Amino acid sequence: MGLFIISNRLPMKVSKLENDFNYERSEGGLTTGLGSLEDYQDKHWIGWPGMFSDDDQDKKQIKTDLAAEKLHPVFLSEDQILNYYEGYSNSMIWPLCHYFYTYIQYETKFWDSYQEVNQLFCDEAVKLIKPGDMVWIQDYQLMLLPAMLREKIEGISIGYFHHIPFPSYELFRVLPERAEILKGLMGADLIGFHTHDYMRHFISAAYRVLGLDSDLDEIHYGDRVVHVDAFPMGINYDLHYNAILDQTVLKKANEFRKNFGNHKLVLSVDRLDYSKGIIHRLKGFAQFLENNPEYRGKVSLVMVVVPSRDSVDRYADLKTKIDEMIGSLNGLYSTLNWSPIYYFYRGFPFEELMALYHIANFALVTPVRDGMNLVAKEYVAVKRDEPGMLILSEMAGAAAELRQAIIINPNNIDEIEEALLEALKMPGEEKKMRMEKMRKTLSKQTVNKWAYDFTTELGTIKGINTLLQNKKIGVDSLKQIQKLYRKAKKRLIILDYDGTLVPIVKNPEMAIPDKKLIETLNLLASDKRNNLVISSGRDTEFLDKWFSELNINLAAEHGAFFKEHGKWQENVRTKFPDDDELLEILQKATDKTPGSRIEMKKTSIVWHYRNCDKWLAELRQQQLVNALMNPCVRLNLQIMRGNKVIEVKTVGVDKGVEATRLMGTDNYDFVMAMGDDITDEDMFHAMPPEAITIKVGSISDHARFSLTQLKTVEFLNSLISEK
Ligand code: UDP
Ligand code: G6P
Repeated sequence: MGLFIISNRLPMKVSKLENDFNYERSEGGLTTGLGSLEDYQDKHWIGWPGMFSDDDQDKKQIKTDLAAEKLHPVFLSEDQILNYYEGYSNSMIWPLCHYFYTYIQYETKFWDSYQEVNQLFCDEAVKLIKPGDMVWIQDYQLMLLPAMLREKIEGISIGYFHHIPFPSYELFRVLPERAEILKGLMGADLIGFHTHDYMRHFISAAYRVLGLDSDLDEIHYGDRVVHVDAFPMGINYDLHYNAILDQTVLKKANEFRKNFGNHKLVLSVDRLDYSKGIIHRLKGFAQFLENNPEYRGKVSLVMVVVPSRDSVDRYADLKTKIDEMIGSLNGLYSTLNWSPIYYFYRGFPFEELMALYHIANFALVTPVRDGMNLVAKEYVAVKRDEPGMLILSEMAGAAAELRQAIIINPNNIDEIEEALLEALKMPGEEKKMRMEKMRKTLSKQTVNKWAYDFTTELGTIKGINTLLQNKKIGVDSLKQIQKLYRKAKKRLIILDYDGTLVPIVKNPEMAIPDKKLIETLNLLASDKRNNLVISSGRDTEFLDKWFSELNINLAAEHGAFFKEHGKWQENVRTKFPDDDELLEILQKATDKTPGSRIEMKKTSIVWHYRNCDKWLAELRQQQLVNALMNPCVRLNLQIMRGNKVIEVKTVGVDKGVEATRLMGTDNYDFVMAMGDDITDEDMFHAMPPEAITIKVGSISDHARFSLTQLKTVEFLNSLISEK
């Protein structure tokens, strides 16, 4: 099985030399993590090689050179870089996901180009990927790709990891293409985020934008289940922890230390980005120097800013602002042998970066929003046993793990000043202890573990999905069921009503059988070998209204009543108690939950919450179940959860009990039950293993088969037909 990573950039930057090409590998965390996945021998990477070319000959050459490394370039035009990369990805999704709502720039051509480039990636992938392969798509530039790939290649498992924050729904809804983006992601089997908060926001957006229900971390999407989980990305711990043992790094560290002089160093390292809180940091450091003159000449900020996306206006503006602020601060405070800020606007080679981490007394990481922030983790690991201290913004994903850091809210400039003072005054032993604890966390949650955890979970999901997909009634299983049906002399067929024979609708009164369904039921019932039963949670009146003309048997209120030979009988003798406390509790829940309602039946009371706000309904149903516990114990009633209902009912009867009774009424050699709800599971459970149990709309552990609601009538017809 092949593993295909697809990301906007390849881990190799290509540039043109006079007669040849230069290939420069970028060994980022992701490359390391994936490199460690030993279970996958055949690993490929698809992405943009970082250069333009209009020359087909050049492109061919690059393709061949990269293919040797199992890297597969997707060439983008200058226009595509402008509109897909700088435009939709970095002027729309990036600011939105980082809560910079006012920075959004919208142009229709951005979206057009985003779709076009995702399609280009898909076309390239389709040439390489085979059924059975695993695909792992990385980040926000390719959010449409999961669905595009799913449509094109069957039998692949698709994972997607979102490396940046996923914003709350109130912000995500701002995106005009929010539905298309979410549908794109829903093509994946597993969607990963750095933290549980991002995961929660995503599940809520899927519900609010697409109306998709979820069970904890599983979103129901058509006849598939999309899994969502948090996988905090780590670093290559050993590489960073051991960096200073490398002679080149050690030499550099000594050299830097000498050059910076004998004062304390506060280090910051980030790409040029407004999400990194560089301005907040500069303000905080300026305030620290202003209010604490005793530290002037003793503490410097070493600020590494790596150029990034500088053709996007907001980034260019930020660069000008940073230059100005540093200029004015240094101008104000510098002395002949001390600078408040050492500013580097360039990337550093790995060895030099490690040397900087090692000599820095403190790291000051102040993003206003950051998916994870690896710099914070790298600093802690590289410091080894030296006392150091990390000042970390609570807005970085890393703050969820690095809890022993000095945590700040960068929007409060006072907190930055206070954190610097706290770090400077913190006893060496305390610093060591806190850094040690953080290192312990980092040494466990490495980038290798991150990649392993994600791919393992994706593999497991694939196994489950294959098992579940095999339950779907297809050509072979249909033939098998038809054969058993035709051979049988006495058949028991139990059909649930709502969600099985008719679709679930907002107003249950509107769920009425159509002509086709009635015809099908009539045909099934007209066969003398069939005992056809509709077993529903509905009351006797509803079932009589629609089915009394038909020659079929009925079971109402989850088997509390059954109708045979045209006569209703009771399965339970207990009358539902008339209890004020119970009614009061249910009424209170209804009053406090707009859209909910109470249904009174002979043997139960049902609280319906299908048409309510999901969050509120979840809260209220928990509260309702808690409040109902005592009266239900007192009155010997049971609480049953169904599809968007809580039902309080008399004990001793359910659809399983009725199914058992029905099976005892004759010598059946063909038993079939179809149902969609949790309450139908009782029926499946009660049946012998050879029975044809069919879960409608989803897949159940207890039912042998599954079928979509749209196909139930067609399926029943195919049993009757002689073809
Ligand atoms: N980095 C680098 N060279 C530099 C500065 C930083 O390779 O001169 C690396 C750094 O080691 C880290 C990554 O860039 O691994 C930045 O990752 P982070 O999660 O902190 O921020 P991002 O850039 O992904 O927003
Ligand atoms: C962040 C994003 C990555 C992106 C990286 C560098 O880490 O999550 O997807 O590759 O920044 O940004 P760039 O625009 O230069 O690729």
